[in-house]
Amino acid sequence: MNKKNLNIGMIGCGFMAKTHSNAYSNVAHFFDVPYQPVLKTVCDLNAERAAAFAAKWGYEQIESDWRKVVADPAIDLIDICLPNNLHAEVAIAAAEAGKAVVSEKPLARTAAEAEPMVAAVEKAGVPNFVSFNYRRIPAVALAKRIIDEGKLGRVFHYRANFLQDWTINANVPQGGKDTWRLNVKEAGSGVTGDLLAHCIDLAIWQNGPVRDVTALTETFIKERMNAVTGKMEPVGIDDACTFLCRFANGSLGNFESTRYARGHKALFTFEINGEHASIKWDLHDLHRLQYFDHRDEGAVRGWRSIHVSDGDQPFMGAWWVPGLAIGYGESFTHQFKEFLEGMASGKPAGPTFRDALETNRICDAVLASAKSGQWVTV
Ligand SMILES: NC(=O)c1ccc[n+]([C@@H]2O[C@H](COP(=O)([O-])OP(=O)(O)OC[C@H]3O[C@@H](n4cnc5c(N)ncnc54)[C@H](O)[C@@H]3O)[C@@H](O)[C@H]2O)c1
Repeated sequence: MNKKNLNIGMIGCGFMAKTHSNAYSNVAHFFDVPYQPVLKTVCDLNAERAAAFAAKWGYEQIESDWRKVVADPAIDLIDICLPNNLHAEVAIAAAEAGKAVVSEKPLARTAAEAEPMVAAVEKAGVPNFVSFNYRRIPAVALAKRIIDEGKLGRVFHYRANFLQDWTINANVPQGGKDTWRLNVKEAGSGVTGDLLAHCIDLAIWQNGPVRDVTALTETFIKERMNAVTGKMEPVGIDDACTFLCRFANGSLGNFESTRYARGHKALFTFEINGEHASIKWDLHDLHRLQYFDHRDEGAVRGWRSIHVSDGDQPFMGAWWVPGLAIGYGESFTHQFKEFLEGMASGKPAGPTFRDALETNRICDAVLASAKSGQWVTV
């Protein structure tokens, strides 16, 4: 296939910049994508860090001011891998400059901050995408296929958890380069925007809109040192959040997230119970999908553990041979495959900015309910 180059301007060079750069580098090796991503410029406030990142990943140039990358006519796509408080300004500027825009999740700290981002990309008519990468884990994509085929029948329950344990120590600071997630000004919220946003994105994609929510949040450690100023400051994020919801299809949702579940590093699970069948998935065993179908012959009925590695399962035909698994990093390869295909076909891959705005709205409703103690309509 004759491919047009797509010059990437990567903003930020932390964890997500690594996953995205890896995916841009390998996507055309495994899939016949319509564009060839070119690692053109990487930008970080810290020029030394940007230079080290560029050397490792093969970026052609470095920059320490994202505005210069946005203004560069050679750049086709701005990829925002920055702390949450910086997504909106960069995305709006990139859209106004006519660039395609990819943003890491959550789209913004609040729906009010996300709305002008949606307006900017839609006004400019530029391709846009939010990196809710778990949609493209093959077992999760297979779950979606099973749901869309109607195999579950009427859905009664959707439950999801995202459990971690890395902030139990009160000496972990807030703010700054490594701990911006604990500072409400930079992160917007705690586990709700960081972890439950992933659960919510999958839930509304698989099970449709959420109507209303009731939530409980807690901040277990009330003060932490600010890593930038060295001063003790009140903690403004939610350390843990549990919420119940009603989906528009009549099913009930039950979600929990915390960074205080000793022993769990990234236990992301979901389970869906329908009238005919149930599905469950666990990030720690990400290439397997658990499936129970009540219509199976009684004597052999039971939970099946499907090893999602065969050519007729989502994305797997492009990888190794049946039986060999892939992992977390490839979910980003798959999302850029579909994003690039959407750019070429004019049928955008989701979640677009507009799709991801709905996740921000639900997060806002969850936090508002935790504050008021009342049910909140989304
Ligand atoms: N999809 C996922 O599973 C997933 C996982 C982790 C993080 N994220 C999201 O990705 C985003 C980034 O998270 P991360 O873990 O990569 O963070 P990180 O702290 O590892 O990286 C952030 C980078 O941004 C740079 N930076 C900060 N301010 C800057 C500025 N003004 N100009 C240029 N560079 C600047 C930092 O120096 C750092 O290199 C967040 O929105 C986060 O929620 C998503």
